[in-house]
Amino acid sequence: MESSEFILEAKEIVKDFAESDGRIRRVLDGISFGVKRREFLSIIGPSGCGKSTLIRIAAGLETVTNGHFLLDGKKVSGTSAERGMVFQKYTLFPWLSVKQNVMFGLISSGYGNDDAEETALQWLQIVGLEKYAEYYPKQLSGGMQQRVAIARALAPQPRVLLMDEPFGALDAQTRSQMQKYLLEVWKNIDITILFVTHDLDEAVFLSDRILTLQANPGRVKELVSVDVPRPRNEESLFLPEFKMLRSHVEDLIHPALEQKLEKEETFNIVNMVGRKNSAR
Ligand SMILES: Nc1ncnc2c1ncn2[C@@H]1O[C@H](COP(=O)(O)OP(=O)(O)OP(=O)(O)O)[C@@H](O)[C@H]1O
Ligand SMILES: [Mg+2]
Repeated sequence: MESSEFILEAKEIVKDFAESDGRIRRVLDGISFGVKRREFLSIIGPSGCGKSTLIRIAAGLETVTNGHFLLDGKKVSGTSAERGMVFQKYTLFPWLSVKQNVMFGLISSGYGNDDAEETALQWLQIVGLEKYAEYYPKQLSGGMQQRVAIARALAPQPRVLLMDEPFGALDAQTRSQMQKYLLEVWKNIDITILFVTHDLDEAVFLSDRILTLQANPGRVKELVSVDVPRPRNEESLFLPEFKMLRSHVEDLIHPALEQKLEKEETFNIVNMVGRKNSAR
């Protein structure tokens, strides 16, 4: 098989859903893109454009109508510890301790109990929660729970980490801490991240590239390279290249018609003013 520069590849993904009246609606229409090894790639687009559906297909949690994902050149089918997933909603098992939550995935992927415990504790240390190993999820804040979810997804050493709005339920300050913290983890381990968000600042702050989608049906609009220097911090948000990219991505995901109307309106006003002035 010819080798690819991509670790994860979407090939012409099509997804149809049946509506409640039985009609078929195409949600994703021929989505193709590739994610490079150790890349941080975000997917952004209007609500309902199929972001969650797409990442759930990559995780093997949703079937396709057509097309497929390739991981290391092999067709993806079903769920696997090679593709770790973190969701927006807190998904830790409430009846298991923090440590047992992280051990769970390890034991399911064949680790013995002692190895799983040792590895789980190492991961809890990486996410700064080793002191909370014996706590239960409800005793932790939302941000801490998401750190456990990240540790749980990363512990079996997946090839890719799939994240669907993982910080969407957090307050602004915790969210920004989690973004910095995720970049720190990403920098230090060999992991490739596919990250869904609808937050423009978050997408630009985190990503190497941003895949913008349009809705109805979901299609790739543009794959944008984020040439904002790393390491990034709060000050990155004020860099001219950050602001330019943010505004470019915003233009891409806003409904085109709305913008066209806005532009036409401005154009007409400018013309009217121009005509009035020249008539004087
Ligand atoms: N199981 C399903 N059955 C029928 N329709 C579905 C199903 N899952 C998703 N859809 C529809 O597919 C479309 C895309 O949904 P999806 O959740 O992927 O969008 P999204 O881009 O993640 O939106 P958001 O930004 O609001 O999270 C929506 O119109 C949704 O109603
Ligand atoms: Mg979604």
